[in-house]
Amino acid sequence: MKVLVVGGGGREHALVWKIAQSPLVTKVFCAPGNPGIGQLAENVPIRMDELDRLLDFARSEGIGLTVVGPEQPLSMGIVDLFEEQGLKIFGPRKDAAIIEASKAFSKDLMQKYCVPTAAYGVFTEVAPAEAFIDRTGVPIVVKADGLAAGKGVIIAQTRQEAVAAVRDMLSGNAFGSAGARVVIEEFLTGEEASFLAITDGTNIIPLASAQDHKAIFDGDKGPNTGGMGAYSPAPVVTPAVHEQAMALVLRRTVDGMAAEGRPYRGVLYAGLMIKEGRVRTLEFNARFGDPECQPLLMRMKSDIVPVLMAVADGDLAGRSIEWHDKAAVCVVMASEGYPGDYRTGDAISGLDKAAELDDVYVFHAGTAAKDGRCVTGGGRVLGVTALGATVRQAIEQAYRGVERITWPGVQYRRDIGKKALNRR
Ligand code: AMP
Ligand code: GLY
Repeated sequence: MKVLVVGGGGREHALVWKIAQSPLVTKVFCAPGNPGIGQLAENVPIRMDELDRLLDFARSEGIGLTVVGPEQPLSMGIVDLFEEQGLKIFGPRKDAAIIEASKAFSKDLMQKYCVPTAAYGVFTEVAPAEAFIDRTGVPIVVKADGLAAGKGVIIAQTRQEAVAAVRDMLSGNAFGSAGARVVIEEFLTGEEASFLAITDGTNIIPLASAQDHKAIFDGDKGPNTGGMGAYSPAPVVTPAVHEQAMALVLRRTVDGMAAEGRPYRGVLYAGLMIKEGRVRTLEFNARFGDPECQPLLMRMKSDIVPVLMAVADGDLAGRSIEWHDKAAVCVVMASEGYPGDYRTGDAISGLDKAAELDDVYVFHAGTAAKDGRCVTGGGRVLGVTALGATVRQAIEQAYRGVERITWPGVQYRRDIGKKALNRR
């Protein structure tokens, strides 16, 4: 069977890497892909938002399964389009992907189906939003309703900051139409974890636990990014936390979506805040996390393709996923200036040296080819991912890989995985 992966970042490189190992798969294509992906699959020069071209390609190439990485094509309805044409595709339909595309929708859903989450209000006008801020006090969290590439969340320490964020968003200056509505919510404290599950709308298979590192600098300082590193398993997800997340978050959400007439198929990613063993939900994503996908797929022992096919067929019953006992850690290497304006086009050196290390795989996120060389081409450039017998060993091995790679202005966090060590 031929498989098409849609997207071109680190998550999609990991998906291609895993899918290409399946004995069921004869060839993998990736649209648009990237130079790293091109070593395992055929890159197809179609952007992820060119849905009609993707459909034409899948039809003419006889693609047996399409796997969608990013949220944008999902929220544009790529799954609806492919399914209408009888093509198999993994991911939620548009009316289910709204769980990520609208924070107001997902908060209302959580409230309706008793999924634990922060107290909140949804506003389209400044005056009632101000009144809510005054009632709640600070710190307080202001979120653009729509997709904002992980940047639409402001944690305001003062009333002034909160009101300014609301005004910026509602005026359309900050995030365009994504900010036409805002969600304002209670500030939660605790430790975050990424809890991902694969579901066919009824059956739910949880993936191994993971933790992301959202802030740009060590010690969770500085502005939020798409994610500067991740590891799995995450010890903050104790067996009791896992049970709560499954019963109170995943089960209620999947059943709630079905009851709303929006059956959810695909990966459902719950961003959790865990405090003293109690779980609350920060957000949902309609896809694999990036970079969480990289360590998760390196730890996945089972062939992923039959699971993805079963979801596309709507029948996950009786399936399971096996995991390697080893831990995995992914350290993201980013361009100078990221997550603000960043420079690209710098030649990357040391990729071949890093590839010589055992149990290390370098996933490409934002790379490009120039004059036969691999150069930086995005904010997050590489995800150096390693397996180890323990999280500590996986951290050490990942940083051995990182130390072999460099370019002018490279930046990365030195403390990926530390939270896991501090708990033990
Ligand atoms: P979101 O995209 O909604 O997950 O928000 C991005 C990040 O903002 C989260 O990963 C948290 O670090 C932070 N965040 C979001 N909502 C809250 C909240 N209610 N309390 C504290 N931090 C939050
Ligand atoms: N790493 C966070 C995300 O994928 O949204």
